[in-house]
Amino acid sequence: MKIQTRLFPVAIGFLGMLMMTNGFAQTTLKDAFKKDFLIGAALNESQFTGQNTNAVALIKAQFDTISPENVLKWEPIHPKPDRYDFTAADQYVEFGQKNGMFIVGHTLVWHSQTPKWVFQDDQGNPVDRDTLLARLHDHISTVVGRYKGKIGGWDVVNEALNEDGTLRDSPWKKIIGEDYLLKAYQFAHEADPQAELYYNDYSLENAPKQNGAVALVKKLQAQGVLITAVGLQGHYKMDWPGPQQVDATIQAFSKLGVKVMITELDLDVLPPATGSQAAEVSMNFALQAKLNPYTNGLPDAVQQQLAKRYADLFAVFVKHHDRISRVTFWGVTDGDSWLNNWPVKGRAAHPFLFNRDGKPKPAFNAVIQTSKLPQDPQKPM
Ligand code: GLA
Repeated sequence: MKIQTRLFPVAIGFLGMLMMTNGFAQTTLKDAFKKDFLIGAALNESQFTGQNTNAVALIKAQFDTISPENVLKWEPIHPKPDRYDFTAADQYVEFGQKNGMFIVGHTLVWHSQTPKWVFQDDQGNPVDRDTLLARLHDHISTVVGRYKGKIGGWDVVNEALNEDGTLRDSPWKKIIGEDYLLKAYQFAHEADPQAELYYNDYSLENAPKQNGAVALVKKLQAQGVLITAVGLQGHYKMDWPGPQQVDATIQAFSKLGVKVMITELDLDVLPPATGSQAAEVSMNFALQAKLNPYTNGLPDAVQQQLAKRYADLFAVFVKHHDRISRVTFWGVTDGDSWLNNWPVKGRAAHPFLFNRDGKPKPAFNAVIQTSKLPQDPQKPM
C-alpha cells in the first residue's frame, strides 16, 4: 500500500511526460471546454474504421462529438432508387457509440453530393412535386429511422440560401417549391421525435445572408418546426469574419430561441484564389506556385498569426458559451482538410490545431488558454 502511494506521483509524472513526448499537451480540448460546449471533429473512413490508429488516439483524447465528413450524404448512402448502403455509416455511428460521443448526422437535404436520379424519371426528365416529396420522405424516414436514438442531431437542410439571402434555386426548390424545407423538417421529426434538428450554412456572418437565414428560421418556427440550432459552418479566412461579426451573428440567431453551433470550423491561411467568402463546393481554380507557399510546413510567423486568430474566435465562443452547444472542426489534422483540394487542387493547407503528424501547433495552446477566460463578462459586446 505504502509503495503504491509513493509510486503514484511518479506514475502520474511519467504519464504526463509520455503525453508531452507524444505531442499531447496535458489538457485536452474536450476537457478544457467541458463547462462551455462540446468539441468536435468531422471524421473520414480511415478514422472511424480504426485503420488510422494515430488519428483514433487523437480523436478519443480530444473530442466528445463527431460529424461524418461524407458517409451520411445522399450519394454514398442512397446511390440508387432501390439501394441503400449503410456499411460505412453504421461504422461511423458505432465508433461514436463505443466512445460515448455525441453523434451528428450530416446531411439529409443538400444540392450537392446528391445523385441525379433523385430529381429525374427514367427518361431523364424532371420528376413532379409528388414524386420528389415521396423520395424525400422515403430517404429521410429510412436514414433517420435507422439511427433513431443513436444520432443525436441532424443537419436536416444544408446550404439552402444564396449569398444575398434569397432561397437557392436548387432542384429541391424548383421541383417541390419553397416548402421543401418545411417538409424535410417534418419528415425528420416524424422519423425521430427526440433528435435535434439543425439548419446549416456558410457565410451567415454576412448581413444579407444572415437576414435571409433569420427570416427562414422564423418562418419555419411559425409553421411549427422545432429547430434546435443553427450551424455556422465556420469555413473562415484569416481576415474574415471579424470577431465582432461572429459575436453579432451568434446573438442574432440566439434571439430566435435556437442554439448556435460552429459546425465545420477551419481557418484558411493560404493566399486567396478568389475574393469570394463563400464556401461554395463547386469552385475550382488552377494550381499556381504562388498560391501554394507552405509546402514545407507553416513558418513560425504564420503559426503565430493562426494562433492569434483562433484565440480571438474562441474568446467569442467562450463569451457566448451558454448560447453555443458545440464547436466542430471540419477535420482532425492538417492533412485531412478539404482545403488541400479546394478551391485549388493539390495545395498544402494548414487550417487546424494539429499538424500533419497529429502534433499540436501553437494554435492548440492558444485555444486552450481561452478556456480560462472569464465566461460572459460584459455581454452583449
Ligand atoms: C460543405 C458541406 C460539407 C463539406 C464541405 C467541404 O461545407 O456542408 O459537408 O462537403 O462543404 O468539405
